[in-house]
Amino acid sequence: SRSISLAVIPGDGIGQEVVAEGLKVLSAVLPQDVKLETKEFDFGARRYHATGETLTDADLDALKQHDAILLGAIGDPSVPSGVLERGFLLKLRFAFDHHVNLRPSKLLPGVATPLAGEPQIDFVVVREGTEGPYTGNGGTIRKGTEHEVATEVSVNTAFGVERVVRDAFARAQARPRKKLTLVHKNNVLTFAGHLWTNIFNKVAAEFPEVATDYIHVDAATIYLVTDPGRFDVIVTDNLFGDIITDLAAAVSGGIGVAASGNINPSREFPSMFEPVHGSAPDIAGQGKADPTATVLSVALLLRHLGYEAEAARVEEAVTADLTARQGEPARSTSEIGDALAVRVAG
Ligand code: IPM
Ligand code: MN
Repeated sequence: SRSISLAVIPGDGIGQEVVAEGLKVLSAVLPQDVKLETKEFDFGARRYHATGETLTDADLDALKQHDAILLGAIGDPSVPSGVLERGFLLKLRFAFDHHVNLRPSKLLPGVATPLAGEPQIDFVVVREGTEGPYTGNGGTIRKGTEHEVATEVSVNTAFGVERVVRDAFARAQARPRKKLTLVHKNNVLTFAGHLWTNIFNKVAAEFPEVATDYIHVDAATIYLVTDPGRFDVIVTDNLFGDIITDLAAAVSGGIGVAASGNINPSREFPSMFEPVHGSAPDIAGQGKADPTATVLSVALLLRHLGYEAEAARVEEAVTADLTARQGEPARSTSEIGDALAVRVAG
């Protein structure tokens, strides 16, 4: 018989509420013969205040034992900016080599977009997840003086760029439109930008069926608003990917429906699935958060573990629910989760 051993990190703020609904839908969609075992980890602000600790080696060892990780959100205003983000979230992404940060954007029926007309939005951003300016490779000198200098060096290795570019080509190849766009800033970042462009062009030769395109990141923000239909798969570095995926979420239904996977394609370590949104402390504990982004992240998790039919059922349930929700009064977090659980089971 089959089984899934899942590490669950609800985290801070609305993370708690949305993860509960994600698990509800996951349990409902899995066939009877699949045994779901979950283990909860109390990472986030509460544990940090109680122990002063962020992610420890023992935590990493415990997480490693699982097939995948479901995470709600990490971050809280009671802790200085960056401590929890670096100490838990980024540490996890780096330690488990989540170099493919997968962020699909699809405008589903019944979902409002701030864009004019009826835009076609169905693309995937492959954001590099372990390098770039996120490595913490920086420093400050003459701190606190008028002459303070801070550096934040973007690290780009041929190995790291090639593996994520190759992954993006393979994803583009598997999609009907077979188009891959490199987003960077190679007119200014002439070291990292040229490394990315050269590797992109080299790998392109191995994927003759994939149409390729290059756009500077600033121009990409224009197209994401004026002509999002031009994108199929986008590959980009960690920071550009962070920024454009918030924009992508905003045009395709908002962060309430934006899902993501932090993937280790070699499966050496568990991959981690999380909504793109943060902990939203302003609405935490009120049942106002939309769990849809977490539920769609559960679909990515199922697909990663080989449960394609179940992943598709979750996505169909979300589409049906969003269509039905049109014009109806706002529902609570658990009402939406219940409705989705009923749909995937039926
Ligand atoms: C995201 C978040 C994180 C990031 C933060 C919280 C560290 O914005 O997942 O997009 O920058 O990657
Ligand atoms: Mn972000």
